[in-house]
Amino acid sequence: MKRALAIAHSNIALAKYWGKEDIANNTPAVPSLSMTLDAMQTTTEVSFSETLETDDVELDGEPAEGRRYDRVVKLLDRVRAEARLSSKAKVRSRNNFPTAAGLASSASGFAALALAARAAAGLSRDDERTSVLARLSSASAARSIFGGYVALDRGESAARRVADATHFPLELIVAVTQAGKKHTGSTEGMSHTRDTSPYYASWVEHAPKLARNIEQAVLAADLERLGPLVEQSALLMHASMWGAAPALIYFNPATLRVMEAVAQLRRAGTLAFYTMDAGPHVKVIAKPEDTAEVRRTLEEQEGVLRTIHCRLGQDASLRLETAE
Ligand code: PMV
Repeated sequence: MKRALAIAHSNIALAKYWGKEDIANNTPAVPSLSMTLDAMQTTTEVSFSETLETDDVELDGEPAEGRRYDRVVKLLDRVRAEARLSSKAKVRSRNNFPTAAGLASSASGFAALALAARAAAGLSRDDERTSVLARLSSASAARSIFGGYVALDRGESAARRVADATHFPLELIVAVTQAGKKHTGSTEGMSHTRDTSPYYASWVEHAPKLARNIEQAVLAADLERLGPLVEQSALLMHASMWGAAPALIYFNPATLRVMEAVAQLRRAGTLAFYTMDAGPHVKVIAKPEDTAEVRRTLEEQEGVLRTIHCRLGQDASLRLETAE
């Protein structure tokens, strides 16, 4: 039996990915750039065994079923094909934050699974291949293989590191504004937006320039330049969803209250900027010296259930590998 345990961190996109160029290969229609986060992580253990008759998958202590199970098996099948392995796998995966709530659980989840499954299958460590394998399951997961600031270009590729954490030590506070899971998954939401929103085409047209400018602002370590671009990327992405028929709206009233509180902080002289994904939570970036004040302000807003304080995270890592 071969066994491996991997840890991967979640990431939040500063330049958003929304839309697929090729559904079968899960290639993004737009480039994206994210921050890997230290405080939100998935730990996944994979072991291949001759004695198993089917893949046995538990996510957060519950047996995986339906589409969630199928997505894991699909990744395992790709690893089995590359490693010329026929045995089934036991997978145990845990998040230290809520799953499927717009907190990028699929990013850290598939990154940790890709890294652990390849190692358990005896394949040598290759971050580029691991990133491509993760991307095939969830494009944002390709970015979680690397720490710091990470880009994923349009089309067939692996993610690439843009800068490490020490280059620009920004922090991010998540304002959690809902307890339950999100109503529409990202794959479904992206197809719906592409198929019905007249704003989808202009999102795809404008996103590359925004992503380029965001990358330059990260490389220049310039929050004043970066922040407005980050907000524009999130709002253009959401505008494309709002234009869908029926509209795809992930915000709740607390989302808007937090956005307004961030704008207010800025008017009072604190550099803080928001971004929202396929869920109602608001993620706010700020400099380390300002995050205590930002966190206090977010926690005062009605509808904010709690906050999560994140610093930049490291590369996904293997903690244990055994072959018996
Ligand atoms: O990788 P997916 O299918 O979970 O899609 C992620 C989409 C967003 O979180 C909304 C944006 C992004 O770039 O992470």
